[in-house]
Amino acid sequence: MTSQERTVAVLGAGTMGSGIATVAVRGGYRTLIHDLDDGRVARGVDAVRGFLAKSAELGKLTEEAAATASARIEGTTDLKDLAGAGVVIEAIYENMAVKKDLFGELDGIVGKDTLFHTNTSTLSVTGIAAGSSRPERVVGTHYCNPAPLMKLVEVADGRHTASWAHRATIEFLASVGKTTVVTKDRPGFIVNRFLIPWENSCIQALENGLGTKESIDAAVTGALGHPMGPFKLLDVVGMDIHQQVATRLYEQLRDPKFFPPPMVDRMVAAGDLGRKTGRGFYTYDDTRLFGS
Ligand SMILES: NC(=O)c1ccc[n+]([C@@H]2O[C@H](COP(=O)([O-])OP(=O)(O)OC[C@H]3O[C@@H](n4cnc5c(N)ncnc54)[C@H](O)[C@@H]3O)[C@@H](O)[C@H]2O)c1
Repeated sequence: MTSQERTVAVLGAGTMGSGIATVAVRGGYRTLIHDLDDGRVARGVDAVRGFLAKSAELGKLTEEAAATASARIEGTTDLKDLAGAGVVIEAIYENMAVKKDLFGELDGIVGKDTLFHTNTSTLSVTGIAAGSSRPERVVGTHYCNPAPLMKLVEVADGRHTASWAHRATIEFLASVGKTTVVTKDRPGFIVNRFLIPWENSCIQALENGLGTKESIDAAVTGALGHPMGPFKLLDVVGMDIHQQVATRLYEQLRDPKFFPPPMVDRMVAAGDLGRKTGRGFYTYDDTRLFGS
């Protein structure tokens, strides 16, 4: 493999970007994580290193493997540093114009065979790819949160995605230990079509006093076998992200089950976004993007 093929660039050092960067370094790739300022880049790099250190502490990785993977992450605020990347994975704000502009800008920086992956939850892959002069290499890859722990990635081609780019994407995801399901470029892909209405109904159950956050979480983990209850999960996802994703799906699908319940707006207005702000449904001393 050439060094270009072994280098991954992740755009956005937030919840998903740092999770995806963790997946890439653990999979053996030198990984550059990019964000708008040094503080956000440093927070993303810390999240990657923190997750690896915790994995070693829990015996899920050897100390040596964690140290080797940690050494593969680098941060930057300069897009030009991404020139050598074989795969660019975009995980920035869920905003069509910003994502399109970024892919357009990258056209002039990366090589012609570089794959462009977008981790959008609700936007059209075809629409994002239209920002690039080479839409044939743009593929939707929707990771589940927390990305280092969840095995599945949904893969959705845009209208102009080339079959080589699709195949290379599946191979890349297998190389970092992910399983894939292929879906269509439609709002919410498969997972969010089910997950968002379900999360909304859990929030409504809490608002209606059916149980406490603890009892509803316990009911879901105990009876349905989910690894995390809905409120623990929403605290990881971020209430701002849930609000955006749910609202966008409602706008596109016109189905009220996607519309976020009023408690979501109140929590966002109060800044109770979840783990990243130290308080959501629960409170956290550790505001790392994905702690224990
Ligand atoms: N949070 C989830 O559960 C989840 C799950 C799957 C997919 N997604 C999708 O992943 C993407 C990122 O979501 P997130 O939860 O990580 O958001 P986040 O707010 O935690 O992080 C986004 C990061 O992108 C950075 N950013 C914004 N514009 C940028 C630019 N032009 N260049 C570089 N960096 C830029 C921001 O500074 C921020 O650090 C969104 O498209 C979202 O829909 C989120």
